Amino acid sequence: MAHTSTYRTRIAGTGSYLPEKILTNVELEKLVDTSDAWIRERTGIASRHMAADGEFTSDLAFHASMRALEMAERTPADIDMILLATVSPDQIMPNTACVLQAKLGAPECMALDISAACSGFVYGLAIADQFIRTGPLKNILVVGAEVLHRIVNYKDRDTCILFGDAAGAAVVTRAEEGQDSTIYSHHLHADGKISDLFVLPGGGSVHPISQYVLDNNLQYVRMKGREIFKNAVRTMSQACQEALEYNQMSADQVDWVIPHQANIRIIEAVAKHFGIPMEKVVVEIEDTGNTSAATVPVTLDRAVRDGRIQRGQNVLLTAFGAGITSGSLLMRF
Ligand code: UT7
Repeated sequence: MAHTSTYRTRIAGTGSYLPEKILTNVELEKLVDTSDAWIRERTGIASRHMAADGEFTSDLAFHASMRALEMAERTPADIDMILLATVSPDQIMPNTACVLQAKLGAPECMALDISAACSGFVYGLAIADQFIRTGPLKNILVVGAEVLHRIVNYKDRDTCILFGDAAGAAVVTRAEEGQDSTIYSHHLHADGKISDLFVLPGGGSVHPISQYVLDNNLQYVRMKGREIFKNAVRTMSQACQEALEYNQMSADQVDWVIPHQANIRIIEAVAKHFGIPMEKVVVEIEDTGNTSAATVPVTLDRAVRDGRIQRGQNVLLTAFGAGITSGSLLMRF
């Protein structure tokens, strides 16, 4: 939530990075019993990117971060904190934010990963906002980065058609006098009662890596797609409504909505529930697929760079993910 505070927070720059290699629906037809037509119609996805061998989550994060820093006219030396949202870290330990810190050559600032699945970037922006508003920090790097293809089973058509690899980043800064952009509010939620809808069971303390894990494919994500679909529409619609009510705004006053890019049909249903035309909803799923924590920053960056999103416009971010986590963040860009 927001906001009584000393300072205002703004996004000074955005960046994104998609690995070169592309996996098309047609190629997936050779791996599982599916079709290009089914995937396009049921999800809106035509292709997704895949990290190369030897390319890790921290590498994708590095490229996206450098682009965001460049737009923000900052260097790694300016960074006061790194927040990296991911469900596909380089390793369980150390956190990938520390790996990124070293790759960037950033100062010895606080650096941590956020585990909130596809909501992770919105969670990260909210945490950054709190530190900027109240504290001495001026420049926080928030990143969503995923190499999902390494935790997806390419024999499971329920999941493998959806996911891709990508990273997106934002440099979140203290607004100076004369800069009127600001984060108005954030509303974040989690409902652990339905955490079984989307899981990666292996590799933690419940199922440490063992032959049993490998024999049962517990090292891969698994989900109840239809249930997630319903909850995604419900939670994102509610979080958007909450943002409007809190700020006493109407849907007409929102210039752009950037929803988590999980499925075009989920996005369309949220727009309908929320009462906003699809022309105001940024959709970038066709060539990326669902890149979990990266979808919101990648979509934001694309819309900023191609001029759709302009300074001074009201932009509403919304996401949901495993947990089930969800939330919204409303800002004047
Ligand atoms: O970031 C959060 C991550 N997760 C999600 O966002 C998942 C949200 N859920 C979804 O996006 C959708 O539920 C899916 C895309 C996963 C599935 O679409 P659906 O419209 O909910 O399909 P369904 O599960 O109701 O299945 C419909 C039919 C079934 O066949 P029958 O029983 O009607 O004969 C499935 O067996 O489609 C079949 N099917 C497929 N056919 C071709 C399921 N997956 C596939 C597939 N290719 N990949």
